[in-house]
Amino acid sequence: MSTLAKLKAREVFDSRGRPTVEVEATTADGAWGRAIVPSGASTGRHEALELRDGDCPKRHNGRGVLLAVKNVMEEIAPKVVGIEIEDQGALDAKLIAIDGTPNKARLGANAILGVSLAVAHAAADACGEELFMYLNRLWRQRLRPDEPGEPVLPLPMVNMISGGLHAGANLDFQDFLFLPIGSRSYTEALETTVCVYHALGEVIKRKGYEGSLVGDEGGYGPRLLSNSSAVDLILETALECGLALGKDMAIALDVAASHWYDPSTGTYRLSATGDELLDTAGMIALLEHWVKQYPILSIEDGLAEDDWDGWRSLTERLGDFVQLIGDDLFATQVERVRRGVERKAGNAVLIKLNQVGTLSETFDALLFARRNGYRTIVSARSGETEDTTIADLAVATAAGQIKIGSVARSERLAKYNRLLRIEDALGPEARFAGRAALGV
Ligand code: PGA
Ligand code: ZN
Repeated sequence: MSTLAKLKAREVFDSRGRPTVEVEATTADGAWGRAIVPSGASTGRHEALELRDGDCPKRHNGRGVLLAVKNVMEEIAPKVVGIEIEDQGALDAKLIAIDGTPNKARLGANAILGVSLAVAHAAADACGEELFMYLNRLWRQRLRPDEPGEPVLPLPMVNMISGGLHAGANLDFQDFLFLPIGSRSYTEALETTVCVYHALGEVIKRKGYEGSLVGDEGGYGPRLLSNSSAVDLILETALECGLALGKDMAIALDVAASHWYDPSTGTYRLSATGDELLDTAGMIALLEHWVKQYPILSIEDGLAEDDWDGWRSLTERLGDFVQLIGDDLFATQVERVRRGVERKAGNAVLIKLNQVGTLSETFDALLFARRNGYRTIVSARSGETEDTTIADLAVATAAGQIKIGSVARSERLAKYNRLLRIEDALGPEARFAGRAALGV
């Protein structure tokens, strides 16, 4: 086994042109790995802290990450150099201990995650393995003998139309997504999705909607008159493409409700169609109405991140028919997923590495969710880069689903293409999670 010889960090830029942390790790025998940390815009309150320089207005309006870079080079590197490169658990425990805060606020989750992932990449290189195979080995070490550990290609959940904080906020809901549930392989799923994506662009143009330009995640951002017209457009397009609604395709929503919830009054403010104030019961009734009307199989953050009682009622009402994903709700933290399991809130966990800040804690969240019957969806952030680690992570842990954004913009396609390469590498062995991953 080789040891970590060197860490190097630098500030690079993400898909929004904002600074982010890149880390390179080199082992004693010259193996090498690199990771770039992503960044959210609709960030939840319970996420680990992303350290920004805050020296506004000097550099990048205070968004620089030179402090995080310095933390890698001066605080972390001297304490982790020499560690066994394959001992990811020990590395991550050490990173957590060096930081010493519950939410990685001292060194920054961006500094810590950069190191955690760069070392995993270097370890895969040291072992001469593809990253997904190396991560799968780490993952299997955690499983009981009766738990299946084979790599599985995920069902993609693909952004078609963006609203909320990702596209000018003319729609309240953040993502209107396409689920290629009729596909039998990852390649087929991607092909179907790409066809629908291009056809949707044509439909938007034909109908004369202003703004078929794409949002942060590559989804179209047309100026529509209502949230529901986004779903109508996708369904109309799917029919034009010859797909059977609810059989070949289904709709997923990321409501991202935390971002228009007012905790002081306990109300949700919808502004796309005027100014509508709903309490939790009103929001649940609205979502139930949508589920009855449309082939919706998945709803993310349908309620706000601390509306636990609401989440329990929502799950009671819809949980048997619809996947209910907690993103801001769970923030990839085992303790929050545990609260969810105890209260029967939600039935699926969105998994974002930088919400928690180390690879090992991400494995913890994935495993805890799985063992408690919750589905898992590995997810990108709205601020992404050419880094493709999440594609490997989703396959290695057989997460079942992946959410990367749309099939436009190279920071998204880098991951979709990485999955194509993994499928190729697995050859006839390649297994695809398909519709079963949704559990509904
Ligand atoms: P974010 O959005 O990366 O801006 O938080 C992604 C999501 O809400 O799923
Ligand atoms: Zn979300």
